[in-house]
Amino acid sequence: MEIAELWDPEPGWLNTASYGLPPRPAWEALQAALSDWRVGATSWEPWDGSTTRARESFARLIGADSENVFVGSTVSAALAPIAAALPDGAKVLTDDVEFTSNVFPWQVHADRGIEVIAVPGDDVVGRITPGIDLVAVSAVQSSTGAVLDLPAVVAASKQIGALVVIDATQAVGWHPITVDGVDALIAHSYKWLMAPRGATLGYLSPRLQERCRPSAAGWYAARDIHGSYYGPVMELDPGARRFDQSPAWFSFVGAAPALELIEEIGVETINRHNLALANEFRAGLGLEPSNSAIVSTRLPGAQEAFAAAGIRAAVRGGKLRASFHIYSTRDDVQQALSALKPLIRG
Ligand SMILES: Cc1ncc(COP(=O)(O)O)c(C=O)c1O
Repeated sequence: MEIAELWDPEPGWLNTASYGLPPRPAWEALQAALSDWRVGATSWEPWDGSTTRARESFARLIGADSENVFVGSTVSAALAPIAAALPDGAKVLTDDVEFTSNVFPWQVHADRGIEVIAVPGDDVVGRITPGIDLVAVSAVQSSTGAVLDLPAVVAASKQIGALVVIDATQAVGWHPITVDGVDALIAHSYKWLMAPRGATLGYLSPRLQERCRPSAAGWYAARDIHGSYYGPVMELDPGARRFDQSPAWFSFVGAAPALELIEEIGVETINRHNLALANEFRAGLGLEPSNSAIVSTRLPGAQEAFAAAGIRAAVRGGKLRASFHIYSTRDDVQQALSALKPLIRG
C-alpha cells in the first residue's frame, strides 16, 4: 500500500500542530479494541501490550534506552515530579511564547522561590548563564513553529551545570531529535505522532531519575505490575517505569501502530515531505524558506478566507498557523494559497 493511502484526510487539514490524523493501522487497532470493549470479548492485558510497544518505539525514535522512558497522560503531569525536585529558589529559563504546559508546572512552585525567566526565543541560548538551574523549552514552538537549536542549548547548559528539559510535542514524528545531553524529553503523542490524546511519553536521564520522587506511582509503576494490585508492600521499578502513570489503554492502542509506522516510513522522509510542502506554501506567500513544518504568519483576513474555503488551520498569537504532515498534499497547499490569493500583495 502506498504511504498516502494509509490516511483518509478531508482535503484542507492544515492543523496537525493541534492534532494529527490517525493512520489506518492505528485507526483499525483502536476500532478493534473498542469493539472488544463493548461486548467484553477480552481481558485488558492485550490493550496494555500497546503501552510497551509505544514505549519501545518512542525510545527508538529519540535514541534512548526504553528503560529510561516512562508513560503518562499529559506533558504538564509528566513535568510535575521534575519541578517538585528543584531546590527552593531555583531559576528556570524558558521561551516567552512557550506552551504553558511547560511553564505552569514550574510556576506553581513560586511560593518556594522558584522563578521562571521567560525570554524571546532568539535569546534563550545567550541567557543560559550562571544562576540558571534548568532550561525548559520546546524543540519546536507551538505558536511560531520556531525550531530550537538544541545542540547549542545542550552545550551552554552543560557549561553551567543546568538541567535541560525539552517539550518535544511539536517535534517528535517529523523533526529528527535525540536525547544526547538532555535530561528530560517529553512528548504528548496526539499531534505529530498521530495517536489519540492521552498517551504521553517521556525520557528521563538516569541522573534526573535519581533526583525525582515518583509522586504518581501506583500499581503500574511497580517492578512486578501484576503482583502489585493490593497491599502496602511497595517495590517500584528501578528504571523510568517508576514514573509511569497507569496508562489510558485506548490511547496507547492507537499510539503503538502510529509510532511504529513513523519508524517504518522514517523521520527523515517525513521531514523532507513536510518541509517541501511548508516551503511551497511559504513561497506562495512570498516568505523565505524555513526549517519548520509549521508556518506562522500575520495575514489579516486569513482566518475568514480559510473558513470560507473550508480549510482548517489555526490562529495563534494573532497569526495564521498552518502545519503540514505526511498526509498533507500539494493540492492542500494550492487550495490554501488560492483561498489566500486576494490577501497576498505582490
Ligand atoms: C508544545 C506543546 N506541549 C504540550 C501540549 C499539550 O500539553 P498537555 O499534554 O499538558 O495537555 C501542547 C498542545 O498544544 C503543545 O503544543
